[in-house]
Amino acid sequence: MIKTILVTGANGQLGNEIRVLAAHFPTLKILFASRNELDITDFDSVKKFLLDNEPKVLINCAAYTAVDKAEAEPDLAKLINTTATGYLADACKLAAIPFIHISTDFVYDGNKTLPHVENENANPIGVYAKTKWDGEQLALQKHTKTIVVRTSWVYSSFGNNFVKTMLRLAREKPELKVVNDQTGSPTYARDLADALLKITLLCETMKPWGVYNFSNDGTITWFEFAKQILMTREIPTPVYPITTEQFPTPARRPAYSVMSKEKMAKTFGITPKPWKLSLEECLKLIP
Ligand SMILES: NC(=O)c1ccc[n+]([C@@H]2O[C@H](COP(=O)([O-])OP(=O)(O)OC[C@H]3O[C@@H](n4cnc5c(N)ncnc54)[C@H](OP(=O)(O)O)[C@@H]3O)[C@@H](O)[C@H]2O)c1
Repeated sequence: MIKTILVTGANGQLGNEIRVLAAHFPTLKILFASRNELDITDFDSVKKFLLDNEPKVLINCAAYTAVDKAEAEPDLAKLINTTATGYLADACKLAAIPFIHISTDFVYDGNKTLPHVENENANPIGVYAKTKWDGEQLALQKHTKTIVVRTSWVYSSFGNNFVKTMLRLAREKPELKVVNDQTGSPTYARDLADALLKITLLCETMKPWGVYNFSNDGTITWFEFAKQILMTREIPTPVYPITTEQFPTPARRPAYSVMSKEKMAKTFGITPKPWKLSLEECLKLIP
């Protein structure tokens, strides 16, 4: 039987990757709603969209993702990442359908040195991180049938991201300097999209409501990531390691944001690909 699902924020990195994978999931009819088609901060429009289209699952890819800009726009970040996430959860509850929401590694306490597990205490730093934390918690409180997937360092051939920025800067500058004291795991948005669609197929029968981590497999710093990007593309621009102190940003980033993916693997049988393999796949698609 064909299952209709709705993807909000469909023009972002993740939304576009779900679009690419749609053909691999023939039992899903996916409705893609960009910001123009459905503004998630408009509660009436959200409710009407669900009533008119009757999706059986909602995946929310919409978010305020400008981490540094959020420090200067806290109200807008809160409206999109917290208040509107609550609207989506409320609307899904009214429609009695599962709500799949994406959150971030930034909710964890970045001062630890062991992979973060879903039920540990959170310590979001900065406006973006706090609004994402409040949003995921609000959704979980409002609607039982909520699945939150926390992810990290997302990149894709769509949109703007670290991979594309490094490729551009390597062409423009004689050398690159990249922070080497922030450790985490990259996530190819296509791998995340695949995981979300698999969860979509399983969620009504399994009822696996709650929080899950997902990223690619492996632990690196941004410096190591940059080096691998340039090496894979055989770009000779040298890359040098620097400290966070040498590269100050308006929003503070966690020093260590590696996440355990065991819960996702045990519950859904979804195991992440090694980060280098996924990076190679993505780089083939970026001119
Ligand atoms: N990117 C990362 O490194 C990263 C890391 C951890 C977690 N995440 C999370 O992963 C999820 C997907 O991120 P992404 O990288 O795909 O983000 P993205 O590329 O920035 O896409 C976000 C999308 O949300 C849309 N949007 C913003 N406000 C909206 C509104 N009011 N109504 C409807 N749509 C709206 C944007 O529309 P416009 O195209 O019109 O701007 C954009 O298309 C987000 O929840 C993000 O917080 C991302």
